[in-house]
Amino acid sequence: MFNIKEIRNQFPILQQQVNGKPLVYLDNAASSQKPISVLETWKRYYEEINANVHRGIHTLSQLATEEMENSRKKVQHFINAKHDYEVIFTRGTTESINLVAYALGNSNFLKKDDEIIIGYLEHHSNIVPWQMLCERTGAKLKVIPMDENGILQLDFLDKNLSEKTKIVSVNHVSNALGIINPIEEIITKVRKNSSALMMIDGAQSVPHFEIDVQKLDCDFFAFSGHKMYAPMGVGILYGKEEILEKLAPFHGGGEMIATCSFEKTTYAALPFKFEAGTPNVGGNIAIGAAIDFMKKIGVENIRNHENELLNYAQKRLLEIDGLKIYGEKANRTSVVSFNLEGIGIASDVGMILDKLGIAVRTGHHCTQPIMEFFKIAGTVRASFAVYNTLEEVDALVEGVKKAQRMLM
Ligand SMILES: Cc1ncc(COP(=O)(O)O)c(C=O)c1O
Repeated sequence: MFNIKEIRNQFPILQQQVNGKPLVYLDNAASSQKPISVLETWKRYYEEINANVHRGIHTLSQLATEEMENSRKKVQHFINAKHDYEVIFTRGTTESINLVAYALGNSNFLKKDDEIIIGYLEHHSNIVPWQMLCERTGAKLKVIPMDENGILQLDFLDKNLSEKTKIVSVNHVSNALGIINPIEEIITKVRKNSSALMMIDGAQSVPHFEIDVQKLDCDFFAFSGHKMYAPMGVGILYGKEEILEKLAPFHGGGEMIATCSFEKTTYAALPFKFEAGTPNVGGNIAIGAAIDFMKKIGVENIRNHENELLNYAQKRLLEIDGLKIYGEKANRTSVVSFNLEGIGIASDVGMILDKLGIAVRTGHHCTQPIMEFFKIAGTVRASFAVYNTLEEVDALVEGVKKAQRMLM
């Protein structure tokens, strides 16, 4: 049974007042809050078994290693990866994408005039690493265009995919607009018309719906723990075994070697080849607790609840005169991004909402090309998680109305 009161009780941070008002936290696309089970797991690691992993024969090191490797298995099953060693711990989506871009560059995977394709709706972290790779190799970056509803124009792929295309990297869900991209259709086109690798930025999909990387048949899938109830500084890169095996490492250092001499180094087996240095052990263990939390509620239940919030928010916000929702007509999840006519600075609205205890994000959301497309500086973005309520949506709507009265 989905019991919102019980769910909210698991989040100590939600029990407080901000600026004298009950906190209404609607900035979940930036980072979600953490349930007690995750906080306790992290704390228990530091109180009871804190030690470096993989290298110690002593008991604490073995316990820490065991728990971290168990957590890796939880991630594996959560996204239905075939093997646990296809799951690489990183610091977040940004590092996961950079890892792939650098490893491809280090492997001479691209040459001059090869092509990389990304979507128009990308977060900067799925733009800049590819631009940097293009600078290193002379490859070219191409972008799938979108229409005024934020829908990607996939006929671009029919015309542009070729044997020159070496990688296609697209986000599953847009952080700025909440649009769910037709990722299955994109992958089908990529497989049919090229031998390119397919990467998915899943930062905004993993918190909201079930992921099956084998069914998707993607080569890489990246996401961040902190957007799915786990601590900051934990991320995941899934990669298909046969591709990870072929790639050169990203970072060099301890943990990632099999043998090291001044003349030559050989690399460790997967996943350690891509995990140089001491990992964020406590965080990596805590992402397993976040997965347990989501599974206990049921990912499908989370999705249904958030869809209800999104539909209600959209309906109520559109009752406000002069309010425009970006991507209104597209298939979306958990995000509503809007502006008020005549109010050019979204942060003015955000500041008034903050005085009412309502946390939203304002600005370009690390997606400047989208803002340029709509010829705006930014939007007000409210984004939902499992613990949000219809009453909080009402508070948002009343707050926006108040901001409109004050700013017009
Ligand atoms: C779609 C998307 N990709 C990538 C990122 C970057 O994630 P992180 O900052 O956790 O590395 C974000 C963060 O907002 C995002 O929403």
